[in-house]
Amino acid sequence: MSRRKQQLVTTTILIIIITIVLMAVVISDAKIINITNKISSKKALIVHCESLDDDLGALAVSSDGVYHWEFEDETFSRPVVFWCNLALEDGRLSFVAYTEGGAGYVVLGYDVNETGIYGPDMFDFQRTYDLLHPWKRIQLP
Ligand SMILES: *[C@@H]1O[C@H](CO)[C@@H](O)[C@H](O)[C@H]1NC(C)=O
Ligand SMILES: *[C@@H]1O[C@H](CO)[C@@H](O)[C@H](O)[C@H]1NC(C)=O
Repeated sequence: MSRRKQQLVTTTILIIIITIVLMAVVISDAKIINITNKISSKKALIVHCESLDDDLGALAVSSDGVYHWEFEDETFSRPVVFWCNLALEDGRLSFVAYTEGGAGYVVLGYDVNETGIYGPDMFDFQRTYDLLHPWKRIQLP
């Protein structure tokens, strides 16, 4: 190969690498998720969210308090799914707070009240804010 051809090949490879890196940065999406406790009474609400890679921990969220996290959904990483378990003294519910399909959203705002959890439906994007799951009442001993 002539020197000029070698330079051309090197330049082309460099451009391809730079393009891929730029695309990864541009396409990776910052996500903000808020779960707000709209239960007016002082009932303790426990929220625990996790993905396969990330356990965000169980927290007691007071009335009007927010369980909040942010992450980057990187295009070339494996699909991210966050699910959450919520507990009241006499109720339980679980929902999927994020799946990769939710790429259109930047801020996902969920509200919890006495009825259940409200927010965007990760499995039906026509429903941008709706009841996702009602509380499952548990029998107290
Ligand atoms: C989400 O929570 C953050 C931090 O608590 C807050 O700054 C932001 O305004 C909230 N956004 C929404 C849409 O609730
Ligand atoms: C919970 O919030 C939803 C949506 O804002 C509302 O329609 C529903 O009446 C609320 N439930 C209670 C018990 O306040």
